[in-house]
Amino acid sequence: MEFIEVLAPMAGITDGTFCRDISTLGFDMVTLGGYNADQSTLNAGQEILARGRPEFDLKPGDLLPYLEEQSFLLKCQDLWDGMVSVNLRALTTDPIIEVSRLKNVDVVEINAHCRQPEITQLGCGQALMENPSHLEKFTREVVKKAKSKVSVKIRANVPDVDEIKTVSAIDHAGADYLHLDAMKPGFNSADYDMVKLIRQETSMFIIGNNSIRDIGSARKMLAAGADGISIARAAIGGTLSFDLSQI
Ligand SMILES: Cc1cc2nc3c(=O)[nH]c(=O)nc-3n(C[C@H](O)[C@H](O)[C@H](O)COP(=O)(O)O)c2cc1C
Repeated sequence: MEFIEVLAPMAGITDGTFCRDISTLGFDMVTLGGYNADQSTLNAGQEILARGRPEFDLKPGDLLPYLEEQSFLLKCQDLWDGMVSVNLRALTTDPIIEVSRLKNVDVVEINAHCRQPEITQLGCGQALMENPSHLEKFTREVVKKAKSKVSVKIRANVPDVDEIKTVSAIDHAGADYLHLDAMKPGFNSADYDMVKLIRQETSMFIIGNNSIRDIGSARKMLAAGADGISIARAAIGGTLSFDLSQI
């Protein structure tokens, strides 16, 4: 696969309209969501909203028609023919597999990254990293039944989590993309050493994420071994202060 540039998910922000307006800046893939895809995570989403965090507010049963609409906004463009990914939180695999069957969805992304307590208490999001055998089984099931490609988004440097075991579980399960938030707590830059370490352990396609805000930080991520990069906060205003084509 060739190097790709990805718009990372931002809950409550990266809907179809936001992604469509920014897509033509040079993104090869944009990520809708993250969305809560079952009743338990939807309930958690309500609690997260109530304490003022951004979140998409959907009712049970509304997700599939909503995503059909949002992904169509991206695919009906003449100016952009990139991939549409959807970042999802769910306790079971079925809701994720259903999304993978939507015509305009190219990638479903299992969110093993969310650290909001309402989500992790359910055993979802980042809590998936605490149990590599469950994560492997979960991912394998999605890979087996999905009609789209499968990405798994994880975060580096989570206390009591062995990244290598996590990555190896995702690799064994056959995921197409490892979306790695190489967060380095207390630093304003990514943990490039962690990216290097993970690169040595897997031949999976790594989308390197965290603190990419200019050409230099993007190039450092690639030099550390990522195959592609993703950007969230530097794109939160709907534009970028640098030219993706210069990376
Ligand atoms: C407002 C906001 C909402 C986010 N929501 C999600 C989400 O729903 N799912 C997810 O996997 N990551 C989410 N993230 C994390 C980003 O995708 C990304 O991993 C993180 O911000 C680090 O990348 P950056 O330094 O380019 O911002 C969110 C980030 C922000 C700022």
